[in-house]
Amino acid sequence: MYTKKLMAAALLLAGVAVVVSFRPAAPDSDADVVVYKSPSCGCCVKWIDHLEAAGYTVRAENVVDMVSVKQREGVPMDLSSCHTAIIGDYVFEGHIPARVISDFLEEGPDLAGLAVPGMPIGSPGMEGWNPAPYDVIAFDSDGNRGVFERIEP
Ligand code: CU
Ligand code: CU
Repeated sequence: MYTKKLMAAALLLAGVAVVVSFRPAAPDSDADVVVYKSPSCGCCVKWIDHLEAAGYTVRAENVVDMVSVKQREGVPMDLSSCHTAIIGDYVFEGHIPARVISDFLEEGPDLAGLAVPGMPIGSPGMEGWNPAPYDVIAFDSDGNRGVFERIEP
């Protein structure tokens, strides 16, 4: 009986170790970031330029059916934007400033990712005449969400 309990505890600990090792800070691949975007998206390319200027290595994947990508990656539909980026286990939806992504990765929270819904004028890659404040939303896989940072362009 006692041995059985010990074995159960050991298995539990092994499980925890596996879970931890599946949350890498940086992915083990040639690119830091994989960005899914539609082939014709111009603002997506500008956002990728913004990420690269901030030091990220980006691999862009052109995808026709972006809705399927967002569903697969767990992006809530009402938070969706044009492109969907993956870094490690996290998903980054839309025109999020690279600095905010770095802050999020440094914190490494137990969340699904970040989103800037829609395409607000003044966000990186969406520069324009009338920049307006916008929110970067953090969300988890249960549908909980909150403002991670408010950006005043
Ligand atoms: Cu866009
Ligand atoms: Cu885009």
